[in-house]
Amino acid sequence: MATRKVVSVVGAGNVGEHVASLLAIKGFADVRMFDIPRKEGDKVFEPVKGKALDMKQMISAMDIDAKIDGFTVTPEGEGYEPIIGSDIVVITAGFPRRPGMSREDLLEANIRILSTIISKVRQYAPNAILIVVTNPVDIMTYVAVKLSGFPTSRVMGMAGVLDSARFKAFIAEELGVSPKDIHAYVIGGHGDEMVPLISISNVGGIPLKDLIPKERLQEIIHRTRFGGGEIVNLMGTSAYHAPAAAVVDMVEALVTNSKRILPCSVYLDGEAGEYYGVRGFCVGVPVKLGNSGVEEIIKVPMIEEEREMWERSVESVKRSVEIAEVMLGEKSPS
Ligand code: APR
Repeated sequence: MATRKVVSVVGAGNVGEHVASLLAIKGFADVRMFDIPRKEGDKVFEPVKGKALDMKQMISAMDIDAKIDGFTVTPEGEGYEPIIGSDIVVITAGFPRRPGMSREDLLEANIRILSTIISKVRQYAPNAILIVVTNPVDIMTYVAVKLSGFPTSRVMGMAGVLDSARFKAFIAEELGVSPKDIHAYVIGGHGDEMVPLISISNVGGIPLKDLIPKERLQEIIHRTRFGGGEIVNLMGTSAYHAPAAAVVDMVEALVTNSKRILPCSVYLDGEAGEYYGVRGFCVGVPVKLGNSGVEEIIKVPMIEEEREMWERSVESVKRSVEIAEVMLGEKSPS
């Protein structure tokens, strides 16, 4: 009997617990969650263990066979032994964005958290595929590439699937069609300068630009770009249902070796880097996902307008990467 894949989720907050719960419901992998304890006065809570127990009972109620466990770790990196044997490690640990806070504000604190986690993954699950969710995601994915030393095909950030899902949801609502029949891609950095690829987007094969008037399309693009912020302003914290579903989409493609083409933040260098004008950092592009991770970087065609948008987006990621490099001590401040 083939052994089941193991997916570990580090950081079982809003996004992490929904990733775990969706994975358990889908039932295609065993799930292990890791998170720190929470202190209230003298009382120490271990929410991750409680969440795992609750989910075990949820799948029992749903008649699903899946294995799900929760482990308490310390911020200093103790308690990670059960991550041994993980095929995929999803990292959501970190501080979420609060209203008015930019993704870059989060950089320093989240780099610190990530470096401890990555050192433990290197120690206990050196063959795992890493999916980084922690924001600012393109930068954190770059940090994960640098700190893990893993082949770049085994490190990817989740952003494009979420941005594309948001774009598709708005288009579906606009046209009254199923999102399933919409092929719309959002690439570039996961920030306000993300790049919707209108020229190749279509609904049931019909080009998007022939279905939605230009001005209205611009409004939809604007809403997509600020889709995260719209939810932060409503909830006071960042989104988690769609982000979790986007992670699960990626995990499913990896675990089932489906060879799906999904936009992910990946390290660009070499020939693909040259095509995209990126040398040695991570930005969102369509990639083919299979058992071994990123199996191919797709060189997607862009019209001139999109290419200009792409360059602006890359420039903005590059600036943050330079700040991260200083924090990582790879480069002294200029
Ligand atoms: N080790 C393990 N877990 C940690 C650590 C650490 N050092 N520090 C924080 N965490 C955990 C928190 O305890 C919390 O449960 O990470 C979890 C983060 O969850 P939330 O605060 O609920 O944040 P969430 O909405 O899930 O977002 C997680 O994804 O979309 C991004 O911007 C978002 O970077 C954020 C990440």
